[in-house]
Amino acid sequence: MKCVVLLLSLLSVGRSAPVSSCDTLINPITVSTEEILGKWIYVGGSSDLPGSRSFGFLLTSVWLNLTTTANSNVLNILQTQRINGDCSSMTYNVIFENSAMLIKEPFYLKDVFLPTGCSDCLLAYEEVISGKDTFTSLLLFSRKTNVSPDVVERLKKQAECLQMSSPIMMDPNNEICPDNLPPSDGLSALNSLFENKMAHRVARVLDVLFDVFVNW
Ligand SMILES: *[C@@H]1O[C@H](CO)[C@@H](O)[C@H](O)[C@H]1NC(C)=O
Repeated sequence: MKCVVLLLSLLSVGRSAPVSSCDTLINPITVSTEEILGKWIYVGGSSDLPGSRSFGFLLTSVWLNLTTTANSNVLNILQTQRINGDCSSMTYNVIFENSAMLIKEPFYLKDVFLPTGCSDCLLAYEEVISGKDTFTSLLLFSRKTNVSPDVVERLKKQAECLQMSSPIMMDPNNEICPDNLPPSDGLSALNSLFENKMAHRVARVLDVLFDVFVNW
């Protein structure tokens, strides 16, 4: 009888293992200002922002440069991307405290950081609330343009745990943009991206078609 109980409890431990492994993959980690500063190259991720799947192929490279400001809990982000071959830069400030990144206006954005399989990576789990819309993204950055396959496998697992669509990885051979472009106001650019409901409707349909016909 004791034996059966032991066996049953072992079985139930075995069965609960996948759940706890999700816990360790998606529990936010602590990140210090020193660790987060500097240049980060976007290597891949998953997002439910309309268009991120269907039009994602137009976005061929993104990098960020995080720097301090006069205010100790405010960081400046310079974001440079290549869209459809053209490079552009934008800049915006974020609050960084308690290992989370925050924008309160004109939309709400919160990034927390999740564990990764590599020492020079940063994985952001991002939630954006714009009006009645909420968008979530999982964004993997690295100090280098590519990461090892096990990091990608882990990212896929993390997306699964978070019930997000399968990550789309950037091509590490894509040319990244130079670092001397004059930046525009990032908050207003991001805000119009989040607020464009008409474009979201079209893009949502395209994203579904993309996943059905291209990405399966
Ligand atoms: C990032 O910003 C710092 C501080 O302004 C600067 O020294 C560094 O050259 C920048 N790096 C890039 C790649 O723009």
